[in-house]
Amino acid sequence: MSTFAKGLEGVVAAETRMSFIDGEKGILEYVGIPIDSLARNSTFEETVFLLWNTRLPNKAELDALSKQIRSRTKLPPKLIDIIKGMPTDAQPMHVLRTAVSALSLFDPKPNLTDIPSAQEKALNILAQIPTIIAAFDRYRRGLEIVEPRTDLTFAQNFLYMLNGKEPTEAMARGFDICMILHADHGLNNSTFTARVVTSTLSDMYSAITAAIGSLRGPLHGGANEEVMEMLNEIPSLEAVEPYIMGKLAKKERIMGFGHRVYKTIDPRATFLKTFAKQIAADTGNQKLYEMSTKIEQIMAREVGAKGIYPNVDFYSATTYHSIGLKLDLFTPMFAMSRVSGWAGHCIEQLSDNRLYRPAAKYVGPHDAPYVEMGKR
Ligand code: ACO
Repeated sequence: MSTFAKGLEGVVAAETRMSFIDGEKGILEYVGIPIDSLARNSTFEETVFLLWNTRLPNKAELDALSKQIRSRTKLPPKLIDIIKGMPTDAQPMHVLRTAVSALSLFDPKPNLTDIPSAQEKALNILAQIPTIIAAFDRYRRGLEIVEPRTDLTFAQNFLYMLNGKEPTEAMARGFDICMILHADHGLNNSTFTARVVTSTLSDMYSAITAAIGSLRGPLHGGANEEVMEMLNEIPSLEAVEPYIMGKLAKKERIMGFGHRVYKTIDPRATFLKTFAKQIAADTGNQKLYEMSTKIEQIMAREVGAKGIYPNVDFYSATTYHSIGLKLDLFTPMFAMSRVSGWAGHCIEQLSDNRLYRPAAKYVGPHDAPYVEMGKR
């Protein structure tokens, strides 16, 4: 009776109230609100409230959530020691995965899965991820670790801890928008991973650690770093056409294009494209933006008919680069935002749990003889 769907394509495996995607029309909504409207009007903190409570907050509720996040940004001193014990050439996604896993060691009751406890752990992890990323980046650069501040927003505080100085308003707002755009996206691979782990009634730390591992993959969140590597590899605007055509001829994938769900441009990419254009105009550094739009044109001409268009990772690479972030911090930025979606999904899963346990179609032999070691 069971059907086999490679990569689980088309399989509906959870109910959610958080985000809705129409891949044909290029629509993404969080709790019914179009992503474009949230990116223009909301903040990351408000988006977190929306996803976790499935409604917009009033002022007092938003202030309370912001305060709760800000009061939890400090890391346990022993976790700072762990971070300082890591090799300086370690990749930030591996550092983040290890540090989030280690956070459970400083929680006296890490295994609690009742909803209030899960919400509490979600808040802590969301608040501490930016501090972990900034602390490791400064430590590897031989700089003093900057303590979080409680008077700054989520976006401002991260950029402050990373750079040791407050960001400009434009930079903080741009970064905040990136956080909003990446917060949730249906049952993507890392979110599914978090829900699968949660369905065993394992703990929030294990679920988020596993999700970080999933996000790192180049077919998922790791694509934004690969996009930047590709842009760095192309020497000039004139070299874009032969470079892309050469890759397509070898049947290689162009990172930042294609999506399991979207068969048109990803609405997050549309927003980020406008944003990347604005930053290029503001900074006078047009090269990356021009190269990106050229790649987009070639891809539309060559593979647009197959439904392959830019995804969120394509223009987020240029955006993060313009904000001054190092390439290997791009995927950690994704995790820093998506943890809101992961945690929200874990809580949804706990609220109506059933163990995930799909079947595998066995395609090997039957009734095979056991051959003794000496005769193999
Ligand atoms: N470049 C060139 N061709 C592509 C690309 C691409 N980026 N993506 C898909 N294709 C082609 C495939 O070669 C295949 O062609 P064929 O039918 O002629 O063999 C066809 O499109 C379908 O590809 P599938 O792999 O079956 O599509 P799937 O839904 O499994 O893949 C995926 C989705 C993994 C995202 C894919 O598009 C890809 O590898 N993209 C590049 C990596 C990337 O940008 N990932 C980020 C996704 S967004 C996110 O996770 C945040």
